[in-house]
Amino acid sequence: MTLLEENQPTDLEKITGLSRRGFISAGALCGAAMFLGGNLLSRSVLAASVSAGSSKMLGFNSIAAATSDTISLPPGYKSSVLISWGQPLQEDGPAFDPSGNGTAQAQEVQFGDNNDGMSLFAFPGEHDRALMAINNEYTNYRYLYPHGGMPQSAADVHKALACEGVSVIEVQRKNGQWQFVQGSNYNRRIHGNSPLRVSGPAAGHDLLKTSADPQGNTVLGTFQNCANGKTPWGTYLTCEENFTDCFGSNNPEQKFGAAQKRYGVVATSKEINWHQHDPRFDLAKNPNELNRHGWIVEIDPFDPQSTPVKRTALGRFKHENAALAETGDGRAVVYMGDDERGEFIYKFISRDKINHQDPQANRELLDHGTLYVARFDAGDSHPDHPKGQGQWIELTHGKNGIDASSGFADQAEVLIHARLAASVVNATRMDRPEWIVVNPKDGQVYCTLTNNAKRGEEGQPVGGPNPRGKNVYGQILRWQENRDDHAAMNFSWDLFMVAGNPAVHAGTPKGGSSNITAQNMFNSPDGLSFDDAGRLWILTDGDASNSGDFAEMGNNQMLCADPLSGEIRRFMVGPVGCEVTGISFSPDQKTLFVGIQHPGENGGSTFPEHLPNGKPRSSVMVITREDGGIVGA
Ligand code: FEO
Ligand code: CA
Ligand code: CA
Repeated sequence: MTLLEENQPTDLEKITGLSRRGFISAGALCGAAMFLGGNLLSRSVLAASVSAGSSKMLGFNSIAAATSDTISLPPGYKSSVLISWGQPLQEDGPAFDPSGNGTAQAQEVQFGDNNDGMSLFAFPGEHDRALMAINNEYTNYRYLYPHGGMPQSAADVHKALACEGVSVIEVQRKNGQWQFVQGSNYNRRIHGNSPLRVSGPAAGHDLLKTSADPQGNTVLGTFQNCANGKTPWGTYLTCEENFTDCFGSNNPEQKFGAAQKRYGVVATSKEINWHQHDPRFDLAKNPNELNRHGWIVEIDPFDPQSTPVKRTALGRFKHENAALAETGDGRAVVYMGDDERGEFIYKFISRDKINHQDPQANRELLDHGTLYVARFDAGDSHPDHPKGQGQWIELTHGKNGIDASSGFADQAEVLIHARLAASVVNATRMDRPEWIVVNPKDGQVYCTLTNNAKRGEEGQPVGGPNPRGKNVYGQILRWQENRDDHAAMNFSWDLFMVAGNPAVHAGTPKGGSSNITAQNMFNSPDGLSFDDAGRLWILTDGDASNSGDFAEMGNNQMLCADPLSGEIRRFMVGPVGCEVTGISFSPDQKTLFVGIQHPGENGGSTFPEHLPNGKPRSSVMVITREDGGIVGA
């Protein structure tokens, strides 16, 4: 397939001259639709038949913004806690100690802190029993330690490392309600000191060798685990995001190289500060330890004895999540965002096909394949609904100018320094790519671009999918791969929504796109998920000050969108100071699991227990309908 061929419009666009947004009357399309086969009809013609404000997909009304220290839901819905930070995984395990005096050893057998992305794995053939793998992204020193400040000892660092990583838990439905099964043999913690294996092209490379691991293939720990992915072969992917913040240097004179700088290293780790008490994180002593983090890690939740594996073929950057898809010829695709201002969107395509008959046969699938990075064109200049074309550019040593002359000795270095390789090929610098998801109904790929106050500065021009300077609100980008094949090297993109505040700013761009109203407005879209029916769930991690540019938006929240009409309704508002992140559904779609992370980040919350002078605790919530129906329908 040549580049020219791939840039052609889809069949439907050729006939109708329409984009996929379908912002015209249904009647105009019907004539054209009559000529088309069933596949095309099922996607784009339906898009035009549902007008904004009348979605048949969304079975609830938008709720009001709120600033209370509770979960707010539409009438007929209820919530309860599945599990909270510090809950012991075993029946005889140490109880959560709200004083902060609990030990690192206790935390290593308790549910981790600040739950984030999560996936549910049903036991084959069972409707009421599943495992959940849940990320624990970081910890809040304010609540972790009795002193409430930065770590003051090696024991403090050890405890912080024990809070992060992943928790695997069993859940069962009893009396219609999904519950955590304390004491299950599947319950497991993988934390910042757990031994992990490194695989793929960068395993054993000199840049991954340390004095503790001269082979460069065994790493202690995974931490800063943001969001997630679930493979078709039943494994969990956990994504290491803000790993550079965990490193610093005790040598005030230390000079950092270009790659270290590009990955955001500074000598004084202002917020995490592990390096002062644990030499592993001191770049003056262990510069290569930094290169051993920032990967995607694959975990088998059904084998508690298994060693998690860092898959280096997927590249190293601040990984947000991993969205799995399949090419037309059966290979695995992983879409990934690098959550940093001006960083990139990537996709990996496996060399080999997925074996759907034998899940175990896919255990090395993510070690062999090709990494690509996205370049978007400027598109049209429509202020509300920009759209255009884009292409994927291969990040392989010896191609596209990526070689010794541009600073890469081999493919391992391309992967370890993926950001630098992507810059060589002039990939598009994005407004902080967060979650990416694939619509199960039509294969379109959606990505939250959460915000970027530096858009418009040098090297980050305004335009294309990043249409707004000093972007404080964010937008949701989507694209359709050519031929509807995830193997394609070209795609068409548009913006599904541009967030804004119509109560403060009139019109676009700061009032947001036409599907943003004073009733559903929000800022900083972050988490995303499609349910089985194709509803798009949007989770926010934004400014909850409820003032200025963010007036009347309230606390962070979860919304639900109809991808066909573009309509968005507010479904849930979280408690004070929280981020809403992490989402999963029961197989029957009657339970929605959603994460409340860092309630009371700056005080002011005792969620969820509301004990007098109690501590707020990050928690996974169970959302159901009182009538037992499908959530959102
Ligand atoms: Fe952990 Fe980019 O969010
Ligand atoms: Ca996030
Ligand atoms: Ca975020």
